[in-house]
Amino acid sequence: MRATVTAHSDYTIARIDDRVYGAFLEHLGRAIYTGIYEPDHPTADGDGMRGDVAQLVRDLRIPMVRYPGGNFVSAYNWEDGIGPRDQRPTRLDLAWHTSDSNQVGIHEFAAWCDTVNTQMMLAINLGSRGLDEARNFLEYVNGPTGSYWGDLRKKNGRADPFDVKLWCLGNEMDGPWQVGHKTAYEYGRLANEVAKTMRAFDKSLELIVCGSSHSNMPTYPDWEREVLEHTYDSVDHISLHMYFANREKNTANYLSLNEKLDRYIGTVASTINFVKSKKRSKRDVYISFDEWNVWYHSNKQDRAILDGNSGWPHAPRLLEDIYNFEDVLQVGLILNTFIRRSDVVKLACIAQLVNVIAPIMTDPKGQAWRQTIYYPYYFASIYGRGTALQLAVNTPGYDAEHGDNVGYVDISGVRNEEEGTVTFFAVNRHGSDSIDLEVSLEGFAAATVIDHQVMTHANLEAVNTAADQHNVAPRQGAGARVDGSSLSVRLPPYSYQMIRIKA
Ligand code: AHR
Repeated sequence: MRATVTAHSDYTIARIDDRVYGAFLEHLGRAIYTGIYEPDHPTADGDGMRGDVAQLVRDLRIPMVRYPGGNFVSAYNWEDGIGPRDQRPTRLDLAWHTSDSNQVGIHEFAAWCDTVNTQMMLAINLGSRGLDEARNFLEYVNGPTGSYWGDLRKKNGRADPFDVKLWCLGNEMDGPWQVGHKTAYEYGRLANEVAKTMRAFDKSLELIVCGSSHSNMPTYPDWEREVLEHTYDSVDHISLHMYFANREKNTANYLSLNEKLDRYIGTVASTINFVKSKKRSKRDVYISFDEWNVWYHSNKQDRAILDGNSGWPHAPRLLEDIYNFEDVLQVGLILNTFIRRSDVVKLACIAQLVNVIAPIMTDPKGQAWRQTIYYPYYFASIYGRGTALQLAVNTPGYDAEHGDNVGYVDISGVRNEEEGTVTFFAVNRHGSDSIDLEVSLEGFAAATVIDHQVMTHANLEAVNTAADQHNVAPRQGAGARVDGSSLSVRLPPYSYQMIRIKA
């Protein structure tokens, strides 16, 4: 099989916002406790944060991490996580039927973000709480000393404001499962008042209003329209979430899911434009895709805890999906979609980062290792920065549940002007055929291949474990070459590839 692509230096989509490679950490299961924080661990630093995990996170160069939820945030009192640790209350977490010792709060999380060179994206509780909590939390985090909340922060060890710019106005408020679930009208009105109040404190904040939890939600996409009609002038982004699953064990359909993702983004982009026109507005609102990942492997084993049959455990194993090789392809496809929609998707967070549906796994007191999906996320985050190219793609395809004529080759291209490189991320969705890919490079200087990483595996269900950490891992590719202005490479069946050229 053969596929052709034309990449022209003048045909671009948009400058990719680096923050599209963000991540998410929730007080859920072992994401925080025995994930990033484990004071008894041999690698723990003075704050009790695991050094081995911090290193794996640092390697990903994550621009920002959303915190502390998720569903958790909708019944969370941020004040429980400040002050002397031995006086912090243990609370029941109503979202996940667990308990939280509050040993990690905003100060500890901020210090960890400094350690791993990332920024915070904070979510406020608009479920069980509202405007007052939002303004108090904002003043505590960003306010000057000499005022009540700033002075309290100083008393708790931090004189300088944390200066957090990104704020999520609640979480999945369209979901009936959410503590404090609201209608679009109720939420839109509240979110607008909260946004106005937060802006009265600081005009330069970037505010994210809740869109749909999924494109299967019955309220989608009317939710977006109505919420934006209330908030258009006071927010910067609307948040979308989507999780990917292969419950039917149908790889062809599973690998077509990013067609659905693309339509979801397109529909919300159109809704934004509709409201913009209706408002006769000049300002733009963008999409924050602040929860995305594969999530289904652990569903059955989680039922007992989620149904409340296990009491209120602290940091149990919850949502611990063990990812396989097939999921590498899926994550590669999702990231390709974000690159191609970089004109509207400006923020995104893989959900989540450690242990809970995460690229990084840990054993308490033991090792930390990379799950299979760590790699496509790593390659996109490290090499997917720059300008997205508008590629013309000619590939054979197949009809699947989520799209017709879904290309066997899915590809994105990123030009990094500063480095003088172009990077292609390609997935071959064909299960038995290799595809000879030819990329015509137009308008670039004479090119050479500088890196070629390939991920393939004989078994789609292959995983990485503590005992076998490198079962699914990239290897150096051979055979990608540039001849004149043409890049050629063979894509093996079910493969993920990253090809970088100097151009
Ligand atoms: O990431 C896990 C959960 O998925 C989050 O808490 C929630 O926002 C979403 O439903």
